[in-house]
Amino acid sequence: MSDKLDGKMVLTVYLLFSCLSSLTEANSRHLPRMIFTDKETAMKRLSLSGYLHHAPVQIVLEGDTVTAVGQKSLISFNIQNPKTPVERSVLWEECSKPSESDCNYKISVVHKREEANQMFVCGTNGRETVCCDMNFSEQSPECIPSEKLRNIKESIKDFIIMEGEPSALVESTGSADLYITYSGSKEYVGIHKFGKNRVRPATRDKVYIEQHYVGLVLSRRRDIPLQDRVYAFYKEKNRDTGLHSEMWLPFVTQICMADTGGPKNLLQFSWTSQMNARLFCGDPASRQHFSELVDVATVHADQWQDTRVYALFTNEWGMSAVCVYTIRDIDNIFTTSPFKGYSTVDSGKRPRTCASDSTKIPLETLRMIEMTSEMEKWVRPVDDSGPLFINHHHYTHIHVDSSQHKRNDHHPVLFLSLYNGGIHKMMQNKNSTFVIAEYQPFNHKTIIFSITLHPSSKKLYVNSGSELVQLDVANCAQYGDSCEECILARDPYCGWNGTHCTPETNDTLQDVTQGNHTVCMSVSKVQLPGKVFRYSTDAHADKAKGSITLPSQSKYFLQCPVSSHHAQYTWHHLDSSTSCGSREQQCLLLINSMGPEQVGTYECVLEEMGYRRVLAQYQIQLESRAAGHSSSPLVWVCLMAVLIKSLSH
Ligand SMILES: *[C@@H]1O[C@H](CO)[C@@H](O)[C@H](O)[C@H]1NC(C)=O
Ligand SMILES: *[C@@H]1O[C@H](CO)[C@@H](O)[C@H](O)[C@H]1NC(C)=O
Ligand SMILES: *[C@@H]1O[C@H](CO)[C@@H](O)[C@H](O)[C@H]1NC(C)=O
Ligand SMILES: *[C@@H]1O[C@H](CO)[C@@H](O)[C@H](O)[C@H]1NC(C)=O
Ligand SMILES: *[C@@H]1O[C@H](CO)[C@@H](O)[C@H](O)[C@H]1NC(C)=O
Repeated sequence: MSDKLDGKMVLTVYLLFSCLSSLTEANSRHLPRMIFTDKETAMKRLSLSGYLHHAPVQIVLEGDTVTAVGQKSLISFNIQNPKTPVERSVLWEECSKPSESDCNYKISVVHKREEANQMFVCGTNGRETVCCDMNFSEQSPECIPSEKLRNIKESIKDFIIMEGEPSALVESTGSADLYITYSGSKEYVGIHKFGKNRVRPATRDKVYIEQHYVGLVLSRRRDIPLQDRVYAFYKEKNRDTGLHSEMWLPFVTQICMADTGGPKNLLQFSWTSQMNARLFCGDPASRQHFSELVDVATVHADQWQDTRVYALFTNEWGMSAVCVYTIRDIDNIFTTSPFKGYSTVDSGKRPRTCASDSTKIPLETLRMIEMTSEMEKWVRPVDDSGPLFINHHHYTHIHVDSSQHKRNDHHPVLFLSLYNGGIHKMMQNKNSTFVIAEYQPFNHKTIIFSITLHPSSKKLYVNSGSELVQLDVANCAQYGDSCEECILARDPYCGWNGTHCTPETNDTLQDVTQGNHTVCMSVSKVQLPGKVFRYSTDAHADKAKGSITLPSQSKYFLQCPVSSHHAQYTWHHLDSSTSCGSREQQCLLLINSMGPEQVGTYECVLEEMGYRRVLAQYQIQLESRAAGHSSSPLVWVCLMAVLIKSLSH
C-alpha cells in the first residue's frame, strides 16, 4: 500500500520537475552543456589521506611527475602511472643538529627553481621560518640552502609565513628574491620582499585596514629590467560601513622590484614605489557590480603590456563574475592618474617610474609618498568591457589555459571550481563565454583546494583535502561520435578528424566561435585537402530500437538518454510530441494507461542549433488479453528504480 503511495508521489514530483525544467529552458544556455562524472570520462583518483594528515599545501608539476606537497612530506606520482607514489620527507638542515629541540617545521611555501628538479621550500614552526633547496631527483633529499638563496634564508628567519599566501620567487644570476604577502589587519599586512634587501610595507599612521591577498603577478620588462614590477591583487575591508556599501573593495597594488626602501630617516626598508588602485568589475546595463575579489589567474604574453589577469569576483547576492584586466591598463593608471585627494599639480613631482636607487629619492618626495598611495582613477576591464560572464554559481578558484591552439583562433579555456566540488570548463569567445562542461571529480560534496593544469597533456589536477584527481580535459570522444556533436561541443581542445572527435591538430575540423555544425557538410577542400568526411545524419543515427508489448491499462516509461543540456529532447508519437527539460539525465515518457491509442512508434529526437538526431525508437504493442498480467508489477518496480535513479542526480 505505502509502496503504491510513494510511487504516486514520485510520479507527481517527477511531473512537477519536468514542468519546472521546461519553464527554465530559456536559461539553459548558461548551464554547462555536458556533465561528466567518472562514469563518462577518465578520472584517476589518488588518495592522499594515507600520506598527508593535512590538506596539501600545493600541487607541483615537473615533467611527468605530479607532487602533492604536504606540511611534512611530498608525495610524487607519475602522470602516466599514478598508482605507485613516492613519498619523501623534508630533511631540514636545522634538524640534523641534535641540540635543536623544536624542529617542527611545516612547509608553507614551495617554488620550482629554474634548474630542473630543484625545489625551493620554506617551513614555519610558529616562531621562525627556514628556507632551503631540495634536489627532487634524490630519494631522501636534504634541504640545504644554496648560495644563491642564502640571503632569503637569513632575511626571512623572524617572519611568520601565513598559510595560503601568494608568493613569487625571482631568480637572477647569483641571487634570488622571495616576494610574499601577509593578509589580515595586523602590522605586517602587505607585500614583503626577502633576499639581499628586505623591504616591507610602509606603516601609515599605524592604522591597518584588513586586506586579503589573492594573487601576485610578476611583470618583467625584459628590455628595461629596472622597470620590473610586482602586482598584487587583494580585497580590502570597506571603511564606509553604511547600509548600502559593500563589505569588501577590490584593489591592485604595484611595487618596483628595484625598490630597496628610503634612506635612513624616512621609509627605510619600506616600499617607496607602492601605489594602489581600485578595480572595477560590473555591468552598467544591468546595474550589477562586483566588489569581492575571490581569485585571479594570469595569462602571460610575449609583450608585458598584453599580459592579462582574469579576476574572479562575487557579490552579496551570491553571484559570480569574471573581469579581465591587462597590465597595459593597470600600468596606465599608475603612470597617469592623479593621487586620490591630491591634484595633478600636487602629485606632479612624484616619480611614476622605478628609481635605480630608492635611497636617493629626495625627502620632499618621500614625504609625499608617505601621505598617500591610492590612485583617483579605477582600473577598468580591457576595452572598457563588462564581465566575461555573470552567473549564479558560487566559484572558488579560477585557472586559465591560453596555450596557443593551432587552427582555432585564440580561445582561452577557463576552469572554475565550484563550491560543491565541481569544475566548470568554459571557452572564451571575445567578450563572452560558453560553458562546455561540468566535471564532477569527487563522488561527494567537497571543497576544492586547487586546480592545476599540465598544459601539454591537458591533464587537470584537482585536489580536495584528502584526494587528488587527474582529469583528462581533452577527452574528446565523450562529446559523441558524429562530426556535428564534435562541433556543437565548441571545445578548443577538440576537433573532428574525419572519423572521430579527437584532440585538435592542424587537420581537425572545428568551429569554436559559432559551433555551427553545417561546417560538417560544407567542409571545403581548401580547409582540409584530401580529407573525406563521413557525416552522421538522421538516417543512420544509432538509436536504441525496441519492440515492447504492454498489457492493457499498464503504465510504462520510455527512456531516452540526455547528453547535451543545451539540446531539446522531444518524444514523438503519431501526431503528438512531448518535450523534456534538459536538466535531467534522461528524457522519460510516461505511458499512463496502455490502450489502443498508445500503440505505435515512439521516437526521441534531439535538436540543438539546427542539428537533429533520433536517439531512441520504440514499437509499442498492446498485449492480447489471453497473455495475462503477470509482468506488470515487475515492470513497475524496474521503472521506479530508473525513475528514482534519474531524480536523485
Ligand atoms: C640532484 O641529484 C641528482 C641525482 O642524485 C644528481 O645527478 C644531480 O646532479 C643533483 N643536482 C644538483 C643541482 O645537485
Ligand atoms: C562585446 O563586444 C561587442 C563588440 O566588440 C559589444 O558590442 C558588446 O557590447 C560587448 N558585450 C559585452 C557584454 O561587453
Ligand atoms: C581519427 O582519430 C581516431 C581516434 O583517435 C583514429 O583512430 C583515426 O585513425 C583518426 N583518423 C584519421 C583520418 O586521422
Ligand atoms: C600546423 O600549422 C602551423 C601554422 O599553420 C604550422 O606552423 C605547423 O608547422 C603545423 N603543424 C603541423 C604538425 O603540421
Ligand atoms: C551556419 O552556417 C550556415 C552556412 O554558413 C548559415 O546559413 C547558418 O545560418 C549558420 N547557422 C547558425 C545557427 O549560425
